[in-house]
Amino acid sequence: MAEQEHDLIIIGAGPGGYVAAIRAAQLGLNVGCVEQEAALGGTCLRVGCIPSKALLESSERFRAAREQLAGHGIRAAEVTLDLPAMLRRKEEIVAGLTRGVDSLFKKNKVTRYQGRGRIEGIGRVSVAGSGGTMELKAKSILIASGSKPATLPGVELDGERIGTSTEALSYRETPKHLVVIGAGYIGLELGSVWRRLGAKVTVVEFLERILFGLDAEIAAEARKLFEQQGLEFHLGCKVNAARVQDGQCVVEIQGREPIRCDRVLVAVGRVPNTSHLGLETVGIELHAKGFIPVNEHFATTAAGIYAIGDAIAGPMLAHKAEEEGVACVERLVAGYGNMNYDAIAAVVYTEPEIAGVGKTEEQLKEMGVQYRRGVFPFRASGRARTLGQTHGFIKLLADAATDRILGVHILGPHAGDLINEAAMAISFGASSEDLARTCQVHPTLGEALREAALAVAGRAIHL
Ligand code: NAI
Repeated sequence: MAEQEHDLIIIGAGPGGYVAAIRAAQLGLNVGCVEQEAALGGTCLRVGCIPSKALLESSERFRAAREQLAGHGIRAAEVTLDLPAMLRRKEEIVAGLTRGVDSLFKKNKVTRYQGRGRIEGIGRVSVAGSGGTMELKAKSILIASGSKPATLPGVELDGERIGTSTEALSYRETPKHLVVIGAGYIGLELGSVWRRLGAKVTVVEFLERILFGLDAEIAAEARKLFEQQGLEFHLGCKVNAARVQDGQCVVEIQGREPIRCDRVLVAVGRVPNTSHLGLETVGIELHAKGFIPVNEHFATTAAGIYAIGDAIAGPMLAHKAEEEGVACVERLVAGYGNMNYDAIAAVVYTEPEIAGVGKTEEQLKEMGVQYRRGVFPFRASGRARTLGQTHGFIKLLADAATDRILGVHILGPHAGDLINEAAMAISFGASSEDLARTCQVHPTLGEALREAALAVAGRAIHL
């Protein structure tokens, strides 16, 4: 049994783990990173953000080519789908990026261990790989083990007809009728992909609204647009069971007729990957939902053991994990690191995109904060008109007393890119006046953000 010693061992090479590994190596630590999958990059790169965005892009181009080219004065011969080529493109993108992480590890001299990592005690990690088990030693251990799809009691995943996002990223043919359980990020993104490629898509959601957690006004407007695109919503409906029966999937809904379909996507959230990590060997007790409790320095109750990303509480977002990983190792080495949860944006890559950063109106009301709002619709934006994407609006919320920007919520073209400017404004502690006085290039969508800031003071120009 070989034994290796490192300053820091990271368990998990997703965006949280691999970014922390690189940053720690930059800071001079001798880093080992344990990952059980052959490809580095975690859920995000292999079966999450990246492949879903590849398919969202391809499927939207397919839809737009069919429905919108004529409006631009472009005549095309029949537009048809080559699904195997679309899936191949997605797989090539994933392969390229995961190989890229391998090269970054080599460049930064991060030692990679392939196998299942388990904590065996303070400063001790075992790696069970195909060639046997090896023991590693480290001054510090960082758990970045991520999350996996949540399942529902009564829903029998068969890994084929009834599956999670992993299967829905690789259906070999377009389903005739896909039922999506859960109107969250995954359900709406992957539901949109298969709807655009021709499937009938029914989304069954337990709550009376979609995208719980995002600004309610934005979510309600988005729902109308998704309905126009042909997504069918059954809100306020609890799925009790789903199974394959006589060659069909049957989805049982409380108090309603069952739905028969040919595929089911279960997208009811994700749960942290925190079992089988050996946490009991160091006395770490999990939160009831499986999260690892940590303090503001990402330290667990065990000496020298830290945790970040989906394994701890908070939004399960790749960039939140990356930010925490960097802050954690910087604190470890330099004694300080920066983490501002108010500036962590979230994006849903539907058409139009939806993005938000900071507080929602619901949260501000609940907190009793007095605020002013400025709203600007994309139909009044010259750039949105030239793009032919005039749905949606930007809403900016500012503190009534100090004018500091508290939240920005966007439904509209390139919302996912625009939101970064808002996140920067929040992280710099900007006021709506600051944003209103920032000249934006004409014609760009950024002008709409400035107009929303102007609207806070009732002086939008193009309204
Ligand atoms: P989610 O938490 O966003 O939505 C799950 C939905 O399922 C909820 O609305 C919930 O009410 C509903 N649900 C739960 N039980 C149900 C039942 N029995 N019947 C009907 N509905 C039920 O979870 P989702 O979409 O699975 O995403 C998981 C995580 O992945 C999220 O935390 C998200 O942050 C992350 N993610 C982020 C993306 C992005 O940043 N663009 C894309 C995809 C996922």
